Amino acid sequence: MSDTLFADSTFGRAAALRQTQAVPHYLRAHYWWAYIHPNAVRIFERQWLVNLILWGNYAHLRDTALSELGDGLAGRTLQVACVYGDLTSRLCRQMAPGGTIDVVDVLPIQLGNLRAKLPPDAPVRFLAMDSSDMNLPDASYDRVLVFFLLHEQPRHYRERTLREVLRVVKPGGKILIVDYAMPRWWHPLRYLWRPLLARVEPFALDLWREEIAALLPAPPAAGTLRKESFFGGLYQQVVITP
Ligand SMILES: C[S@@+](CC[C@H](N)C(=O)[O-])C[C@H]1O[C@@H](n2cnc3c(N)ncnc32)[C@H](O)[C@@H]1O
Repeated sequence: MSDTLFADSTFGRAAALRQTQAVPHYLRAHYWWAYIHPNAVRIFERQWLVNLILWGNYAHLRDTALSELGDGLAGRTLQVACVYGDLTSRLCRQMAPGGTIDVVDVLPIQLGNLRAKLPPDAPVRFLAMDSSDMNLPDASYDRVLVFFLLHEQPRHYRERTLREVLRVVKPGGKILIVDYAMPRWWHPLRYLWRPLLARVEPFALDLWREEIAALLPAPPAAGTLRKESFFGGLYQQVVITP
């Protein structure tokens, strides 16, 4: 697996541009400004800004997810995709001695940014991989966290990511997904946010129309999927215990 670990020395503008050859089309086409461009990290690695984009809900969504995972996390945790802000630093603090976190991201620049935010002795491996085709063994993780990744992906990509997540989690493990959902009819953002989201994040509205359960390769068995809504339904947390 060492060939998928990235090297810090590869960063810089040229490397950031070169790496766009290997990343999915949707990221290059729609999210270059947020994640790929060398200025992206400089601009967006501000928690207040991410919080603003999430209408003031970053801390609440982060803390709800972290408390669902719990403290004293033993074994192996997988975080699929880097997140701006302090989600991963806080997750590190919840690890039991010996517990480890693998973070997968398709962009080395994002993995480098995350590495710079964490203490050098954080029990984290940084894996440059695509979420839709992870070079990770079956049933090897006790829990998997997917925080605001799915809305960025076209449907077929999202389905492949979910299939991969289900493949790598251990039986009896936990998958935790946080992302957009359809706000309730009375929510002003249902009408005000829709046109902007449609323009800036073209696949996000899919999650307004379709349940995450419908994207799984097979319908979840009774009692294995739990969904909770936040902020008038604009955000959802889905917990799957396969
Ligand atoms: C988790 S999402 C959005 C997070 C949210 N906007 C935030 O930062 O608070 C952003 C990350 O997903 C990564 N990403 C997008 N598509 C990916 C894929 N197919 N495989 C792995 N990582 C991916 C991007 O490189 C980026 O680092």
